[in-house]
Amino acid sequence: MSSLPRAWINEIGRYEGQEVELRGWLDNRRSSGKLHFLQVRDGTGVIQCVVFKGDVTPEVFEQTDHLPQESAIKVRGTVRADARSPIGYEIGVKDVEVVHKAAPDYPLGHKEHGVAFLMDKRHLWLRSNRQRVVMAVRHTIIKAIRDFFDARGFRLVDAPIFTPNACEGTTTLFEVPYFDLGKAYLTQSGQLYGEAAAMAYGKIYTFGPTFRAEKSKTRRHLTEFWMVEPEVAFMDLEEDMDLAEDFLCFIAQRVLENHAKELQTVLERDISKLETVKKPFPRITYDEAVKVLQAAGNPIQWGDDFGGDEETILCSQYDRPVMVHRYPADLKAFYFKHDPQNPKLALGVDVLAPEGYGEIIGGGQREEDYETLVRRIQEHNLPVEAFDWYLDLRKWGSVPHAGFGLGVERTVAWMCGLHHVRETIPFPRMMERLTP
Ligand code: 4AD
Ligand code: MG
Repeated sequence: MSSLPRAWINEIGRYEGQEVELRGWLDNRRSSGKLHFLQVRDGTGVIQCVVFKGDVTPEVFEQTDHLPQESAIKVRGTVRADARSPIGYEIGVKDVEVVHKAAPDYPLGHKEHGVAFLMDKRHLWLRSNRQRVVMAVRHTIIKAIRDFFDARGFRLVDAPIFTPNACEGTTTLFEVPYFDLGKAYLTQSGQLYGEAAAMAYGKIYTFGPTFRAEKSKTRRHLTEFWMVEPEVAFMDLEEDMDLAEDFLCFIAQRVLENHAKELQTVLERDISKLETVKKPFPRITYDEAVKVLQAAGNPIQWGDDFGGDEETILCSQYDRPVMVHRYPADLKAFYFKHDPQNPKLALGVDVLAPEGYGEIIGGGQREEDYETLVRRIQEHNLPVEAFDWYLDLRKWGSVPHAGFGLGVERTVAWMCGLHHVRETIPFPRMMERLTP
């Protein structure tokens, strides 16, 4: 038992000159004669704890020279400033209590490992300092998302995960047996429920896991990902783009405020690339985007969808996100309102993040006319009966409305400068990965 204050590494500076108790795990150690240097992590950071032979009992000195990596320990000692330390402090150890002596063969020792191996050991990989920072940034982004909408009076509405119909096309639906009712699908998007809620509460957001049976093995696709979807009654496409722009600036700012240092020191992120995320974002039409691509030597023709390659070329032209609006309606989901100026175009927008990160937001204005919407559902070969409730929204008080969806994992990848979304969620689900 000890009556010392329990200190956390991220707040260790508060205790300079004082004796504290630190509870954590041994990340690494090295010895030189009368000194053992223990790198200890507690989930908030890593700190060096220096064990000097003359300061501890012979038993403690002997034991700390042999402790395996990931042993759980309580360290008692004095916090002192240290200019060489990345966090500015170290601990002069007086005592070490071993809570659990780890097995000797921790699989993620301090050497290079392949990604497949790291993914297999994801439950342990999360302990690394790099993953700690990625998860901290993810937390900040999720908090920023909620704060942004909450401060603007949006009502949070939770959409169901079992759904009776498709929202984003039938090719990426996950089917689940559902009692006597036949089958249900895991939701691809909360949007349709968000529209019902927007007609009830004016401005809302849904935020939860969404599912796509994506057969693509790209660095941008997961089968389970988190999406936030604002939806606003009496809003058009232009205002939707304004909202998306303010939203992304807010998120980037929050990440910089909270993580500038660790992004640079731990993830080697060039944060000047995030400092440019300021209004106004360029807004270009799909037509203009096609011309930009063709000028860059891409073989795209009007009417083709943008794949990863096209997105990469487009977003690399700008130092901040670019908004591409008015895509060919044929490329888009059934619910998009078509442009009254040119009915071949959908009033939709994709926001592409810079540095090759590609689409992070998709959204637009919804069709609010009953007859038109019925026709669209039929044209998309979707069962009209399944959309009865959704069509009701166009019978009573139908108004122009719009919204968008932001993928959390792609946003985390962009902010952290990660190559692949698999590192942005604690336990990623992909076509070929269901464990751990
Ligand atoms: O463009 P999407 O498909 O749009 C919708 O689902 C609309 N219902 C949103 C709305 O208007 N309310 O998806 C929106 C975003 C994408 O821009 C991307 O960031 C993310 O969701 N996303 C994925 N992220 C990871 N893995 C996948 N397989 C993703 N599919 C979409
Ligand atoms: Mg999209």
